[in-house]
Amino acid sequence: MSVAAYLEKNKDRFLQELFNLLRIPSVSADPKFKGDVVAAANFVKNSLEKAGADRVEICETPGFPIVYGEKIIDPKLPTVLVYGHYDVQPADPYELWDSPPFEPVLKKTAIHPEGAIFARGAADDKGQFYMHIKAFEAMMATGDLPCNVKFMIEGEEEIGSDNLDKFVLANKERLKADVILISDTHMIGMDNPSITVGLRGMAYMEVEVTGSNRDLHSGTYGGAVANPINVLCQLIASLKDENEYITIPGFYEKVQELSAAQRQRLNEAPFSLEDYKSKLDIKEVQGEKGYSTIERIGIRPTLDVNGIWGGYTGEGAKTVLPSKAFAKISMRLVPDQDWHEITTLFENHFKAIAPASVTVKVKVHHGGAPAVVSDSSLGYQAAEAAMEETFGKRPIPTREGGSIPIVALFQKELGSDPILFGFGLDTDALHSPNEHYGVKNYLIGIETIASFFRHFSTLQGK
Ligand code: BES
Ligand code: MN
Ligand code: MN
Repeated sequence: MSVAAYLEKNKDRFLQELFNLLRIPSVSADPKFKGDVVAAANFVKNSLEKAGADRVEICETPGFPIVYGEKIIDPKLPTVLVYGHYDVQPADPYELWDSPPFEPVLKKTAIHPEGAIFARGAADDKGQFYMHIKAFEAMMATGDLPCNVKFMIEGEEEIGSDNLDKFVLANKERLKADVILISDTHMIGMDNPSITVGLRGMAYMEVEVTGSNRDLHSGTYGGAVANPINVLCQLIASLKDENEYITIPGFYEKVQELSAAQRQRLNEAPFSLEDYKSKLDIKEVQGEKGYSTIERIGIRPTLDVNGIWGGYTGEGAKTVLPSKAFAKISMRLVPDQDWHEITTLFENHFKAIAPASVTVKVKVHHGGAPAVVSDSSLGYQAAEAAMEETFGKRPIPTREGGSIPIVALFQKELGSDPILFGFGLDTDALHSPNEHYGVKNYLIGIETIASFFRHFSTLQGK
């Protein structure tokens, strides 16, 4: 039986299994879900075992475990390492979901007329890494596995992959591979397959601005003592100028500028600004002057406030001059910005611009390096050929704005090419309410992964 026939015969079960995984609320950021994150790791372990992997192991870390498994059919054959994450983002705000986030359901949408799976983690990344386990099962069952395969599925991607770095460094031999496959990104569309070749890095901080030693009556003191919320807003507003250019001294120093030809190629990707705006229900886009939307996301760094709080936010009105104000601020970085350096630049600048009427604390959350991967490696060629086979159209390389910090470490420490072989769409609502993943994307993904294995083994000439 062919992989395609096996897939056709088993597709309902493949969907049901994914539903079972999606029912586990494995939110790594919230300690309340600790047991569920561990349960998801066990689910992955069992799935790998059932699909036919050997040496399946729950590798404990000081945080959440990494699930490892492999199938070495012949050490002389090429080896594919699959990376993914079984943790998910918090589902909050729950009230904005049309159906409960951990009770997956199939619904049709305009973009997914065949139906999409609605659940937290459906696209990011449970639905995507599970495709690899199912493709592996299908290849094992049909006697079609042409390469060795190793799986490394972690549970801390959404909180910065702190313990994965150490695991990779300590297990270089075990993780040795000819290519690394990661399905945790988007394509342009079902009619426009693409392969991601760039990801942004990140530096994430939290700032605390303190004025007086206690909350004050805003009449008795207002106008005479600094209001830390007002000050925080002024400080944040000053971090970008009227052209949306970031004002932190040295921030752009290491930013790689692309040539006019490279920029033109990037902008040739199919993209409709009108569609983009209408899908987001916005009248106009906003970003750094002199760059297109594709460029603002793919090749330019940025700074965003992710949350801001302080003072009185309860019912009714309270006339208070608060003692403290807080904000979570993240910066998306591009090659060759270094997140440690950017963190220091931010910290120094933020403290330098604060008026003497307040004190400022800066706490570093996490960071990660940007990455650019080759669009000519054997792995890329195999991915290209596989997509061309299943989508009937040659994929184009794109740069995305999201971050997968471990990709740069893979390049540096494992020396094999990571392939960002994502099958999601940017409308899948990652990290938002009503996250979903197309059933068609899931099934074509499984087929394309199996096709990748065939092409990769042929290209390797083994
Ligand atoms: N899968 C995403 C990254 C992504 C999304 C890449 C869309 C390309 C397109 C990943 O799970 C993620 O959310 N990463 C975080 C990284 C952070 C927590 C260090 C991100 O990008 O915010
Ligand atoms: Mn992800
Ligand atoms: Mn994510």
